[in-house]
Amino acid sequence: MKLRIAVLAGDGIGPEVTCEAVRVLNALAGIHEHSFEFRDHAIGGTAIKTFGSPFPTETADACLTADAVLLGAVGAPEFDHLPASRRPESGLLQLRQALGGFANLRPAISYPGIVGVSPLRAEIVQGADILIVRELLGGLYFGEPRGFLGENGKSSAVNTLRYSVEEIERVARLAFEAAAGRQKRITSVDKANVLETSQLWRQTVSDLAADYPEVTLEHMYVDACALHLMTNPRRFDVILTENLFGDILSDEAAAITGSLGMLASATIGGAINLYEPVHGSAPDLAGRGVANPLGAIASAAMLLLYSGELEQEAVDIETAIELVLDAGYRTPDIDDGKSGRVVSTSEMGALVAEAVAQMADARYAYHAV
Ligand code: NAD
Ligand code: IPM
Ligand code: MN
Repeated sequence: MKLRIAVLAGDGIGPEVTCEAVRVLNALAGIHEHSFEFRDHAIGGTAIKTFGSPFPTETADACLTADAVLLGAVGAPEFDHLPASRRPESGLLQLRQALGGFANLRPAISYPGIVGVSPLRAEIVQGADILIVRELLGGLYFGEPRGFLGENGKSSAVNTLRYSVEEIERVARLAFEAAAGRQKRITSVDKANVLETSQLWRQTVSDLAADYPEVTLEHMYVDACALHLMTNPRRFDVILTENLFGDILSDEAAAITGSLGMLASATIGGAINLYEPVHGSAPDLAGRGVANPLGAIASAAMLLLYSGELEQEAVDIETAIELVLDAGYRTPDIDDGKSGRVVSTSEMGALVAEAVAQMADARYAYHAV
């Protein structure tokens, strides 16, 4: 298998965690004789500094001709004063639009080895395994009109929340298909008691459910969902929701796992798929070697699954993450003070790469017998 991967490390801890994801992919390539070709390109604040734009044309062209895009994170305090369209974050939004992926899959899993790290009680989070399907190209993020209004351009501001039936249907279809391969339950999250867009969302998802009789659909208001995620996360299988609700609920769901640094994502449905950890550039951690790379590494596993159809290799990375956690290795964000094995970002990456290699060796030895 040959995969050309555009690597957009970005800002803050982006380069640190992406480097570890690439290390694990390289370890796998060596074992299975896959050829993974990595090309670095600029995005976000670093791209503004070098090219004067958060999403340079060179980066856009490279991503659109790659097999997959692996992103770290964007955003830095020095750009926070800029208007939205000139901030590093707009580079990420332009990238998402250019690639066309509308379904952002964000798994939130309670790993047995770190159940105790969650601020929620173990008996609540144990066994939780949720897939959040976040609509990624619509809603308030992209709706027009938008901007500041008024005489001095600052007295009021507007954003537009708009969804078409087609936009809802296409992401809902992917969510139903994902649910069909899991526990066959979908919770569609909206605010249909207040918003017309949510009423359309609810109606469209309900209509589509007829095509998936094996999947059970429930509807839930977003405020109630925020509560149930914390009090009974095991009640969820697939959560389907619109762009902004998905952004917020996925960060909240990180509390089930124990740290935002653990969460991975894949954006599918467009021309080229995009893989990125859920977390941001964490300026508070950047350059200190303390960031958790497991979200980025798990995103690389999703890359192998969705862009390479390398199911075994993807499972190997996920299993390697579990083994390393079971062995007690922790970056500071998932350290409960009990394991005694706190490691750096690069040590964590090396441990996962080593575990992946050992698993592959064991499998070859088994087959050779
Ligand atoms: P953040 O996700 O960067 O950090 C939130 C909290 O989680 C911080 O306490 C941070 O230390 C911790 N954290 C995040 N990633 C971690 C990791 N890998 N290991 C350990 N701890 C981790 O969110 P923020 O602080 O609100 O935003 C910082 C910048 O990142 C902003 O400019 C924001 O716009 C941007 N951002 C970018 C993305 C992205 O590129 N996909 C996502 C979210 C935020
Ligand atoms: C995320 C981030 C982005 C989003 C920002 C940085 C544009 O928070 O990927 O969750 O809101 O989608
Ligand atoms: Mn977010």
